[in-house]
Amino acid sequence: MAAYCFIILIVIVMRFHGLDIYNSKPVREKQITRIIGKITTIAAAINLRLSGRAPVLPSNKLSYTQNFLYMLDSFGNLSYKPNPRLTRALDIIFILHAEHEMNCSTSAVRHLSSSGVDVYTAIAGAIGALYGPLHGGANEAVLKMLSEIGTVENIPAFIEGVKARKRKLSGFGHRVYKNYDPRAKVLRKLTEEVFSIVGRDPLIEIAVSLEKIALSDEYFIKRKLYPNVDFYSGLIYRAMGFQPEFFTILFAIPRMAGYLAHWRESLDDPDTKIMRPQQVYVGEWLRHYTPVNQRTESSNSDKFGQLAVSNASKRRLAGSMA
Ligand SMILES: *[C@@H]1O[C@H](CO)[C@@H](O)[C@H](O)[C@H]1NC(C)=O
Ligand SMILES: *[C@@H]1O[C@H](CO)[C@@H](O)[C@H](O)[C@H]1NC(C)=O
Ligand SMILES: *[C@@H]1O[C@H](CO)[C@@H](O)[C@H](O)[C@H]1NC(C)=O
Repeated sequence: MAAYCFIILIVIVMRFHGLDIYNSKPVREKQITRIIGKITTIAAAINLRLSGRAPVLPSNKLSYTQNFLYMLDSFGNLSYKPNPRLTRALDIIFILHAEHEMNCSTSAVRHLSSSGVDVYTAIAGAIGALYGPLHGGANEAVLKMLSEIGTVENIPAFIEGVKARKRKLSGFGHRVYKNYDPRAKVLRKLTEEVFSIVGRDPLIEIAVSLEKIALSDEYFIKRKLYPNVDFYSGLIYRAMGFQPEFFTILFAIPRMAGYLAHWRESLDDPDTKIMRPQQVYVGEWLRHYTPVNQRTESSNSDKFGQLAVSNASKRRLAGSMA
């Protein structure tokens, strides 16, 4: 829900600035600055809305991350100053997430903008991709996994479950990093820093022990399963008081820089064409046409009729037009 609001607001709030971006470089640069600037304001407004509070105007006197925390926590009091160590921690997380080559959402930006659509629509589409559980939702899956493990004593049984493919392992391994994800190392240190200010999350003991056991286990070493950036970020976000439904947005804020760098590069690249991945046809080569009345229903085809009627439909059907 939060991510939906975010996507819709981006398109509505920003799109009208759009017009000349593809032709004029100075206008394009201004749009980039605007998106990076406004994204925290929109994100903070959504976060405040989730708890029924009114949005707060940004302050021109504060740094980027300071300003984001100010909008979340000041209740509009201009003398409010966010904790500098928490600000620094969030800054580090933002830097670590700013860009990571052709991730699913970044390639979505390049794909969408290759059609010439305005950049606001392209980034909104990218956030849509980021919202998927395999992508931006990965850190939330880690929290769920750690909660399910519950105690350090349960880790060996969990590891056996993973090896038997009965339990799902989240936050390990990466398509790019075949050694330790360097970002995870930074985040692990950061968890202690954040906990020292806002209190320790008991799940960290499970996380640290799981990491230790996994890193010394032949099964994990052979498969190059090392903790990745998502392994610790959810714990930090939770300790800082962010709800899981806001995690995707916390990922999207810094990633704007990466999206926009890609967008800019693609516009200046003379080889950029509208994207059209190749497909390999694997269907039947030649099929004869059977008239509708002679076709038999195959047993494995989907039957819409088997879908249960929703409760809302039952309510509607219970009414009448009279
Ligand atoms: C803002 O916070 C300061 C410091 O806590 C306090 O003195 C002041 O009364 C607050 N102002 C408003 C408008 O609430
Ligand atoms: C990139 O995407 C993968 C999944 O598509 C996700 O696990 C990973 O966290 C992402 N990393 C970054 C920082 O982009
Ligand atoms: C629909 O109503 C039934 C009966 O009260 C209930 O058991 C079921 O959970 C409801 N379904 C949903 C999706 O809320």
